[in-house]
Amino acid sequence: MFTKEEIKNIRSEFPYLNIKPNGKEIIYFDNGATTQKPREIIDNIVKYYEGENGNPHRGAHYLAMKSTEVYENAREKVKDFIGAEKSSEVIFLRNATEALNLVAYSYGRNELKEGDEILISILEHHSNIVPWQEVCKKTGAVLKYVYVDENMQIPFSEFEEKITEKTKIVSITGASNVVGTYPDIEKIVKYTRENSNAIFILDGAQYVPHKKVNVKELDVDFMAFSGHKMYSAMGIGVLYGKEKLLNKIEPFLSGGDMIEYVYEDHTTFLDAPQRFEAGTVNVEGAVNLAAAIDYINKYGMEKIEEYEKYLTDYCYEKLSKLDYIKVYTTNSKDRAPVISFNFNEAHPHDVASILDTFGIAIRSGHHCAQPLHRFLGSNFSCRASFGIYNTVEEIDYFVEHLEDVREVLGIGSK
Ligand SMILES: Cc1ncc(COP(=O)(O)O)c(C=O)c1O
Repeated sequence: MFTKEEIKNIRSEFPYLNIKPNGKEIIYFDNGATTQKPREIIDNIVKYYEGENGNPHRGAHYLAMKSTEVYENAREKVKDFIGAEKSSEVIFLRNATEALNLVAYSYGRNELKEGDEILISILEHHSNIVPWQEVCKKTGAVLKYVYVDENMQIPFSEFEEKITEKTKIVSITGASNVVGTYPDIEKIVKYTRENSNAIFILDGAQYVPHKKVNVKELDVDFMAFSGHKMYSAMGIGVLYGKEKLLNKIEPFLSGGDMIEYVYEDHTTFLDAPQRFEAGTVNVEGAVNLAAAIDYINKYGMEKIEEYEKYLTDYCYEKLSKLDYIKVYTTNSKDRAPVISFNFNEAHPHDVASILDTFGIAIRSGHHCAQPLHRFLGSNFSCRASFGIYNTVEEIDYFVEHLEDVREVLGIGSK
């Protein structure tokens, strides 16, 4: 595991952790929303604009070719990082949300018909719910859910019961952004293949930043994730798709750079990836995501996962002992680094605002998972989520100041 010295060095790489706004060190526990960025990734944006900026795939001058080279190298890097077979299976988009919408529009709306079924879980983020509701509205397909038990795990019998030959799409999160559950994706994909003709989509938004992923081994048809949750800039995300599926489905957006030939009355399209990257692309973002992958690889995903697990276990143990708090996160030791909880007698926004006065940033609200919160019997929760730079000392400080929240609100004292 990382030593204290290594974590100290890692922390020194992140400018935001060292600026001490209001003279106080910031404890950043909102990594599930977005991570802070290390200096080398911030500098990478400048490097791109200073010497590599052009419009790729167009033109014969140096910068047009340079930007094509760095953009396509970034694609290659993502391919290796997620274990795809070909770099053409990596589509650069804005974020995981856009990636899921692409599949919903290009596959869902065209391939599904009345009576077909889409299966998702109650753990899903709105990005993996709303696009499927829209597909159902347009096609007459039916949206079904698998639910979790009291330990936030999906009993496998839920899939056995709900995957049938009517199921055409199964779309499941790799990790819950609220309760930390890691569904057994490999087992679910295998069962889906054996019992239906459905495609399988993995929402990797909270999985790819924390766990080594191999799309070929998992055998998923599509996977979506965002760069900004893994130390990269905002505005860049990825849709992975199996080549044969990508080239079968219709483009989501059309226009420049995704065409083969354009006639006055019709157009032929290129294959993936260009087929899905209409218009001028986010080269800066793709290059930045590649830099973030280098950053993660520098420390090693296994080591990052081990350390984040250690922090999560530590925080879970501490919060579970407080009788004025209800913890929602799964008690399984194999969980994503998110701890969601509620004070018995305080609204999450009050808790988060008071903690903010001590320099502690947590998330409060529904975390874009309203159906899950309703299922849990609360409309909202507090969430502390961890990244590579967090420490047990920060967790101690955070837990200590939960008492101050009670004191400020007049619901308890030290
Ligand atoms: C599980 C999950 N899926 C999808 C998303 C959407 O990610 P983005 O907002 O980057 O598109 C999030 C964001 O928090 C998430 O936690």
